[in-house]
Amino acid sequence: MDSAEKGEEKFAILQLPGKEPLRLPIIKGTMGPEVIDIRALGKQGYFTYDPGFVSTAACSSRITFIDGAKGVLLYRGYPIDQLADRCNYLRVCYLLLNGELPSKEQYQEFEGQIIHHTLVHEQIHSLYQAYRRDSHPMAVMCGIAGALSAFYHDNLDIYDPEHRYSTAIRLIAKMPTLAAMSYKYSIGHPFVYPRNDLSYAGNFLHMMFSTPCEEYEVNPVIEKALDKIFILHADHEQNASTSSVRLAGSSGANPYACIAAGIASLWGPAHGGANEACLRMLGQIGTVDRIPEFIARAKDKNDPFRLSGFGHRVYKTYDPRARVMRETCHEVLNELHIKNHPVLDVATELERIALSDPYFIERNLYPNVDFYSGIILNAIGIPTSMFTVIFALARTVGWISHWTEMQEMPESRIGRPRQIYIGKPLRAVKKQSKKTSNKQ
Ligand code: CMC
Repeated sequence: MDSAEKGEEKFAILQLPGKEPLRLPIIKGTMGPEVIDIRALGKQGYFTYDPGFVSTAACSSRITFIDGAKGVLLYRGYPIDQLADRCNYLRVCYLLLNGELPSKEQYQEFEGQIIHHTLVHEQIHSLYQAYRRDSHPMAVMCGIAGALSAFYHDNLDIYDPEHRYSTAIRLIAKMPTLAAMSYKYSIGHPFVYPRNDLSYAGNFLHMMFSTPCEEYEVNPVIEKALDKIFILHADHEQNASTSSVRLAGSSGANPYACIAAGIASLWGPAHGGANEACLRMLGQIGTVDRIPEFIARAKDKNDPFRLSGFGHRVYKTYDPRARVMRETCHEVLNELHIKNHPVLDVATELERIALSDPYFIERNLYPNVDFYSGIILNAIGIPTSMFTVIFALARTVGWISHWTEMQEMPESRIGRPRQIYIGKPLRAVKKQSKKTSNKQ
């Protein structure tokens, strides 16, 4: 395929067998690589083949930008490290949803709206009772998030901007409550109601760790660290779970059902489930002297084992979120006076060894956001099975921002990928004698 420029416009010229050269427009976004618009290809009787969407943009978006080669992540144009340093999570939520950071008044109004919606319907409490106590909290979250749609019949018109906005507010407000309830249920404790005098992160810690017998005292360093974790996970462009939300939403499905689809997709160990898998892996390695054994396994093509928390489809350098996460990890351990942390020792040494190993260097495999987050969450006292739930809680704003953007974009259409059919060619079902067919 050649590229040619005509005046201001650029085209790629594709020569299909037996056809006239096809001019495919080259589109340029605000930042990032140029994109060949292949929409005209289908009419020529051809599709493109791209398993895993390695070279395919499925939509255009104004929300998040990633430069994987340089390790850049921007929310609405702002670098992630500056947002983590200078904003709290709710300001970032406002930014992702509305496109701009809020003024003081806008922030107060937004915070008030979130606070107003942190309670969940009492009947939702009984939904939890239907789950086994030992259910994985992500299993519970998939079900409960979808079930929310059954509580807001009168607010589900996806074409109404007010309905869309109030759904976004409800989801951001209620996810911490639902997440903490999934933990409380798993340990047989009563649910703890939200406290609206606390910050978003502080309230989550309260709902996780307070009991009717004792109020949990929120430590400001821990609260700030958790808030940063929420910011770092808030959005990440068209990853598997966000794409699942968009694909589900493209059919006109209600937003709660779409978020449930996102939670299901996030659960996998190649995606959000990696934080849980990573901490389990570090525990399994146990001591620094066993690292070479696990590095060898990660490199062995006959072993399905991979280093969790390493590698990324888009980042081919250090994940900028992992950098902030590593600093936060040290801050939390200092605050908690944890001097010797065997898991952190293993993580630090594993990172050092992997980053100097040709296998990882050649494949650009660096620590990702999940490498250090588990150590922080573990130090705070959050059980491993809740790690991906916390990712889901924080990512909800990203999912609902993408869902909202999709509803507002005139180019949005139902998502319908095609395939290369490699099954049996056309064949006939043999007629059976009456005797045989009666027997079957
Ligand atoms: N350990 C060992 N080898 C790896 C790893 C790893 N963690 N990740 C990739 N590779 C190898 C892979 O075997 C392949 O080698 P080769 O070229 O010899 O066949 C090469 O690197 C490219 O891997 P890939 O599977 O084609 O890359 P991908 O873009 O399809 O997958 C990934 C990206 C994140 C799924 C993968 O790196 C992985 O499985 N990492 C571990 C799970 C993880 O930490 N996931 C969290 C991602 S960040 C948070 C999020 O977005 O949810």
